[in-house]
Amino acid sequence: MTQYLDIAIEAAKAAGRIHLKYFDTDLKIKTKQGESHNRVTIADTESEKKIVSMIKKHFPGHNFLGEENKYEKTDSEFTWIIDPLDGTNNYSHSFPIFCVSIALAKKGEIILGIVYDPLRNELFTAEKGKGAYLNNKRIKVTDNTDLKECILITGFYYDRGERLIRTLEDIRTFFSKLILGMRRTGSAALDLCYVASGRVDGFWEFLLNPWDFAAGKLIIEEAGGKATDKGGNKLLIKPSYVVASNGRIHDKMLEILK
Ligand code: IPD
Ligand code: CA
Ligand code: CA
Repeated sequence: MTQYLDIAIEAAKAAGRIHLKYFDTDLKIKTKQGESHNRVTIADTESEKKIVSMIKKHFPGHNFLGEENKYEKTDSEFTWIIDPLDGTNNYSHSFPIFCVSIALAKKGEIILGIVYDPLRNELFTAEKGKGAYLNNKRIKVTDNTDLKECILITGFYYDRGERLIRTLEDIRTFFSKLILGMRRTGSAALDLCYVASGRVDGFWEFLLNPWDFAAGKLIIEEAGGKATDKGGNKLLIKPSYVVASNGRIHDKMLEILK
């Protein structure tokens, strides 16, 4: 399995170099069709191309699910799930929080996840059954059980309607439980890794795509935490409502978000 990990790390670091090359330069920003707040830059497209070509060189028969491109389906049981740049709105504003996220699924089960933040040189990794690591050092979720001790993170989908209103209401409810704090970084993949590494206690977001959460989900689970949908069910490789936590506050979060 380590062969997959080594190649994924190489590809993520190459993508990170592309991010750094264009970061805080005069970027041409495009918006995605029908979603005026959903942006794409040359760093998104160039880094996805790079990741896919590096992985394909070793595993030409595998499937690919990437944010920026459609790929022809093969009959392989392996699928690489790639967000070449998570945090594009931050990136396009020269706001220094973004990353690359790569996961590998076998028969629909995530078996490997890596998230790389090139500005901080932070590499989060996990292989199924082998624990979660930040720069090769084992990480684990917090022990907090009382919401008063907890910092939570959320995110807002590009939608500016009902989902946003609901998220704002949920933030108010969490504050009424006297949580320690609330954060919004702008990168769901990093949010999940911050739960895994104990920097925060829980995360939720109304609608994420598999490339946003696939790697982070495994990293959290391997760090002793939990990631489910809103009903507490297993996350599948499809657009989902995501709730992630240290495990101990999971039911409390689900209760508020239901
Ligand atoms: C976005 C980020 C953001 C989250 C959005 C995602 P992108 O991904 O993860 O934190 O709130 O829902 O779409 O578009 O920057 O790859
Ligand atoms: Ca994303
Ligand atoms: Ca992206």
